[in-house]
Amino acid sequence: MRGCVGGGSNFAGQCFPFVKDKLDGQDIDIIATEPTACPTLTRAPFRYDFGDTAELTPLLKMYTLGHSFVPPPIHAGGLRYHGDAPLLCLLVNQGVIEARAFHQNEVFEAAITFTRTEGSLPAPETAHCVKGAIDEALKCKETGEEKCIVIAYSGHGFFDLAAYDAYLTGDLVDYEYPEAKIQEALASLPDIE
Ligand SMILES: Cc1ncc(COP(=O)(O)O)c(C=O)c1O
Repeated sequence: MRGCVGGGSNFAGQCFPFVKDKLDGQDIDIIATEPTACPTLTRAPFRYDFGDTAELTPLLKMYTLGHSFVPPPIHAGGLRYHGDAPLLCLLVNQGVIEARAFHQNEVFEAAITFTRTEGSLPAPETAHCVKGAIDEALKCKETGEEKCIVIAYSGHGFFDLAAYDAYLTGDLVDYEYPEAKIQEALASLPDIE
């Protein structure tokens, strides 16, 4: 099961109904996907933080890049929130759900493959879980294992053609969010465990 995570709603809607089955012993991989430019679940610490830059929300325990996080200009705009839904974060923290991060060029490559084979153009956000699903399918091809791979198709990419144009003309830049920036943003968080 693969879904992309901005704040976590669409992915939680897809995978939470299967979490009990997994906890009861069923062999289900639940994998959240996100951009390397906003690596909340894959690189951020599990801390109390505000949900907003104005510090108006209650403190929430979640993986967070810090509420002063300024998102890099990547095309998957909907995946650039500094934190994620606390319930989703807890399940990642407990090892029930895994997370993977991808660079935007490999994500768009997967999206083009998907479009050419399925006839449907995914949004750049959705393309992250398409990339996760294609990776898994290629692994199955190698091992011969049969698997049912489910993706949360969160949206179409008809309004993102400029992003596809940038990818196809080689203008998309991959970006890894710097560790120093994470540390800088976290320095302003309340010190609560
Ligand atoms: C197409 C698409 N998919 C996924 C997301 C992220 O959704 P969520 O915040 O539910 O994780 C967005 C957010 O804007 C989006 O536009």
